Amino acid sequence: MKGRVLSVASECVPLVKTGGLADVVGALPAALAAEGWEMRVLLPAYRSLRARAKGWPEVWREPGLWGGEGRVLLGQVDGIEVMLLDAPHLYDREGGPYAGPQGEWGDNPQRFAALSWVAAALAREGAAGWKPDVLHAHDWQAGFAPAYLAYHGSGGCRSVLTIHNIAFQGWAEGGLLADLRLPGEAFHSGALEYYGGLSSLKAGLVTADRITTVSPRYAEELMRPEFGMGLQGVIAARAAAGDVCGILNGVDLSVWSPEGEAENPYSAKDPKGKDAARAALCAVFGLEVPGPLAIVVSRLTDQKGIDLLPAVVPDFVAAGGGLVVLGSGDPGLEAAMKDLAARFPGRVAVRIGYDEAMSHRLFQGADAVLVPSRFEPCGLTQMYGLRYGALPVVAATGGLADTVIGATPASLSAGVATGFVFHPTDALAFGQALRQLVALYADRRAWTRARKAAMAQPVGWETSAAAYAALYAGLVG
Ligand code: ADP
Ligand code: GLC
Repeated sequence: MKGRVLSVASECVPLVKTGGLADVVGALPAALAAEGWEMRVLLPAYRSLRARAKGWPEVWREPGLWGGEGRVLLGQVDGIEVMLLDAPHLYDREGGPYAGPQGEWGDNPQRFAALSWVAAALAREGAAGWKPDVLHAHDWQAGFAPAYLAYHGSGGCRSVLTIHNIAFQGWAEGGLLADLRLPGEAFHSGALEYYGGLSSLKAGLVTADRITTVSPRYAEELMRPEFGMGLQGVIAARAAAGDVCGILNGVDLSVWSPEGEAENPYSAKDPKGKDAARAALCAVFGLEVPGPLAIVVSRLTDQKGIDLLPAVVPDFVAAGGGLVVLGSGDPGLEAAMKDLAARFPGRVAVRIGYDEAMSHRLFQGADAVLVPSRFEPCGLTQMYGLRYGALPVVAATGGLADTVIGATPASLSAGVATGFVFHPTDALAFGQALRQLVALYADRRAWTRARKAAMAQPVGWETSAAAYAALYAGLVG
């Protein structure tokens, strides 16, 4: 064993998920175990998780946790060593991790400060004979954890902060500084102060020993104002000191492999099951699609460029294409997707909601997956698409640009094209990429070759787990 890491996050598959953060936090422990690092995950014990922790031993008790007591319970879920922070006054509520029936919880700064506070205490002192060498904080929800180590003592524990999405910054009123247990002398723009207030993400960015983000391209983009969203200067300064790097996310191949699907399994060598999966998918949604069958599996938000679909789908359908959208989010975008399905019956279908099992069937049956994001720190669905031979059609940004090799005359003749990459993220470029998709689909030999190249891409965790392991070793050694 090379060392111990306490991973601190608000989501983790299979316990709680709203997006890719959960996939990554859930996959890292096994990926790092293969590299000799023992990782535990600290999560809030949301209402949905409390029953799971029945009978788990208590390994830490924290009094005075913003209006109540916190207890850390240790257990195992699907091979992951999980530490649940049970603090009912903060987490035992109806709703999701960040919001209830009335919207976002007003005390989110305190709720996630509490998670970070306990993380730092565990890191500093260790619990039940287990003391981490590195605290690995994910996104704004854990951003205060490196700050607590920096300002209240680290006990020798080093820290890493990973940015999964800089659009979420954990903003809080400046007046909360003392309540959030942060030192007054650090309230200046070179440290904690952020446009007159506080940001837990900025707090982490200025105090963590190292910063990573989930793709190399996003690491570069973050230093520019159009992507850095106010934090570009902070990141550029840390990068100049050599403290920032991009490590691409991987895919958990034990969950995402066409060979491992119960129904219609297939592989690059033997893709027959894919035809059966496509037929089954068309039957479920009442579709008949002569050209490429595309899918979207996504949060329906502005980030994801979903608003471009109504502008490009009519031509795509006219050219023979079909589309299935699985997603939920912005009510206006949900309505726009339903409207598309109503306009193109037999060609476009929409399922509003979150459905993990259905998402597998979509990737199995699809010829292409569309990811027209305006920004995308990494993105996982384009990698599922590669793995399942659903060629990604992606905007040239963040991890999308790092994982897909766009079809061009040169890449096609070299046999390395794995999808379609367009720039900028607008309807003109997107529509052009869809025309390319239709044309390649019609050329069966070229299509088969590109699909093989896509399915051969190494999208697992190996390379990236080694990169995290090297980062930890550099900090600890
Ligand atoms: P983000 O985290 O920004 O939403 P990612 O591509 O990193 O984007 O991860 C999204 C994850 O959520 C993927 O695992 C994707 O399959 C899943 N997902 C998104 N929407 C749905 C849905 N409606 N049903 C099932 N899975 C979904
Ligand atoms: C964020 C990003 C997404 C990334 C995921 C996991 O949700 O939006 O691009 O894949 O985190 O790192």
